[in-house]
Amino acid sequence: MMNRVLVTGGAGFIGSNFVRYLLNADSGVHVVNLDALTYAGSLENLRDLPVDRHAFIKGDICDRDLVNDLLRRHRIDTIVHFAAESHVDRSILSPEPFIRTNVIGTFTLLEAARQYWLVEEALPIADIRFHHVSTDEVYGSLNPDEPAFSETTPYAPNSPYAASKASSDHLARSYHHTYHLPVTISNCSNNYGPRQFPEKLIPLVVLNALEGRPLPVYGDGQQIRDWLFVDDHCEAIHQILVRGVSGQTYNIGGNNQPANLTIVETICDLLDELRPGARTHRELIKFVTDRPGHDRRYAMNIAKIRNELGWQPRYSLKDGLFATVQWILANPEWLAAIQMQNDYQAWLTENYATREKAK
Ligand code: NAD
Ligand code: DAU
Repeated sequence: MMNRVLVTGGAGFIGSNFVRYLLNADSGVHVVNLDALTYAGSLENLRDLPVDRHAFIKGDICDRDLVNDLLRRHRIDTIVHFAAESHVDRSILSPEPFIRTNVIGTFTLLEAARQYWLVEEALPIADIRFHHVSTDEVYGSLNPDEPAFSETTPYAPNSPYAASKASSDHLARSYHHTYHLPVTISNCSNNYGPRQFPEKLIPLVVLNALEGRPLPVYGDGQQIRDWLFVDDHCEAIHQILVRGVSGQTYNIGGNNQPANLTIVETICDLLDELRPGARTHRELIKFVTDRPGHDRRYAMNIAKIRNELGWQPRYSLKDGLFATVQWILANPEWLAAIQMQNDYQAWLTENYATREKAK
């Protein structure tokens, strides 16, 4: 029963890919897209969406009156909640916006949904859903020999970002347990793909390499993430909305776990093929001061979503990276818009100047 869907953060990286995915996958769905257009969100990400099935609203998820009004006016039956401050390095330099958006914002949405769906309208549970999008970072960091995170791994968030997401997960869980709000939660590993803001490792490296700038590798570059192509994440969320069980959490991951340095080298080699120059792109790699409190290793056990919902990633890392680099090369106008509209250059200067000083 998914007809009128409120997507929060739908002008960001994963949210905008999800809006496209959902509109393609289900012709009966209408999307209301609520996004504050922070530095990470862009209308450029929503180019060419069908106006009859997608309405964009610029606004803040912490604005309770606005959220109340949207739920009622559009008779929303499903909320897919992506909106967040999402970058770990920013949470280290300036944690406050993370607490506001990720914690207070999630609480505002949960409370508005509870009031509208359960108190005012008394809608059947089967007709409504609140899906909360979260991260593997809530589980903390793994040693080399430890098993991958499962849905029962105790929370141990290490950065202000991870702590704010853990907090929002707990709030979402409590609304199911206490009020019987039909909530599902997904915890996903590192995404990459089209429309990712170039502060995150993969698009940052592609961009810097194209412009002949240094490719910053934190610490020894041996940290491990579990990389997932964004379309695979969108498909997993769709499966959870359609077939997932209220009150359940699902781990999502890519089964792709190379060290960061290997990712950077793979991108360099790809660009050597696609954009050959006088020197190899690997020559641009530069080891810089590590991220404070840097988690060493993430890995996701995806047995539950695979066994219960039949989802598993389709993209190999090689294919996903190729598709990502090709997309960036084919969309220079997207890149130009992102770089002009947001504080991209200011961020690069701040983040990497700090690292140079600390070294
Ligand atoms: P992003 O930073 O690219 O996009 C976030 C979007 O939220 C932006 O469009 C921004 O404008 C919007 N936003 C921020 N504050 C807002 C507010 N107060 N009100 C309304 N909109 C606001 O993030 P992303 O990488 O697309 O991540 C989306 C979600 O997925 C987040 O909840 C994140 O924690 C989660 N997640 C991300 C990854 C990843 O690898 N990127 C992995 C797992 C989970
Ligand atoms: O694990 C899921 C999380 O993945 C999401 O919840 C976050 O929203 C998302 O930002 C991402 O967090 P990471 O911190 O893992 O992603 P990031 O791209 O910032 O960094 C990936 C790895 O690369 C990490 O070990 C730090 C390292 N790194 C990052 C940057 C930006 C570098 O070595 N150099 C860099 O310049």
